[in-house]
Amino acid sequence: MIIITGASKGVGRFLFSKFKQENVEVIGTYNSTQEGIENDLANYYRIDITDYKAVEAWILSVKTSLKEIVLLNCAGISYNSYAHKADIDKWNKVIEVNLNGTFNVIRNILPIMREQSYGRIINFSSIVTSLPTPGVSAYAASKAGLIGLTKSLAVENASKRITVNAINLGYANIGMGLNDVPAENQEMLKSKIPAGRFCDPEEVYNTIRFLIDTEYVNGSVIDINGGLI
Ligand SMILES: NC(=O)c1ccc[n+]([C@@H]2O[C@H](COP(=O)([O-])OP(=O)(O)OC[C@H]3O[C@@H](n4cnc5c(N)ncnc54)[C@H](OP(=O)(O)O)[C@@H]3O)[C@@H](O)[C@H]2O)c1
Repeated sequence: MIIITGASKGVGRFLFSKFKQENVEVIGTYNSTQEGIENDLANYYRIDITDYKAVEAWILSVKTSLKEIVLLNCAGISYNSYAHKADIDKWNKVIEVNLNGTFNVIRNILPIMREQSYGRIINFSSIVTSLPTPGVSAYAASKAGLIGLTKSLAVENASKRITVNAINLGYANIGMGLNDVPAENQEMLKSKIPAGRFCDPEEVYNTIRFLIDTEYVNGSVIDINGGLI
């Protein structure tokens, strides 16, 4: 079964719908956005992933129904500011959600995966870890942290048929990537992408299917960026 954090919007929401269409059992989480998921609320849990106790209680409450778990850690936030002007609380919040929050979920699900000797964890990192734009220090730091976390978890858990990989997403035509980018700048950005277009979420889905099916890919970071390097 698939567990998707941050499934109320953007890429996570798309993946939720896609797996549901494929008749795969899927549960999602949201934090503040219910708009657009009203019809699926039976399979959604409201969780702030930065709240360790809440994450622990949620996983405990669903534990008996979890089998062959594939965990997609989509939940994330961004904060744009030059580092020298950054609001320290907003900067820390990005690390808290993207890195610590993701770990809170993993920390509670890994023991179940280890008991069941099967698991897939896919963390959502970003192209800005290798190709930053100005103003993304918190986001880039949090996403680079996820890559280290991914590789560390892969070596700890490979013997239990658990793989942990990261997706390094470029600019998708859905979700936060282009949220704050004005239309004219979007065209300029697109012209820099060798593929000449933004990522379709279907391509994220295809990559996830590959990672689910391919146990020998472990501790990897897969770039999905249309050749933007
Ligand atoms: N879209 C892109 O182009 C792109 C590029 C590179 C990387 N990524 C990464 O891909 C992932 C998905 O991105 P997206 O574009 O789909 O983002 P998005 O549309 O902004 O959605 C983010 C999701 O994260 C959830 N979330 C935020 N704070 C949370 C918290 N404290 N606890 C639990 N959930 C929380 C949101 O829930 P609520 O709305 O319910 O609060 C929402 O469902 C993110 O990790 C992002 O960094 C995206």
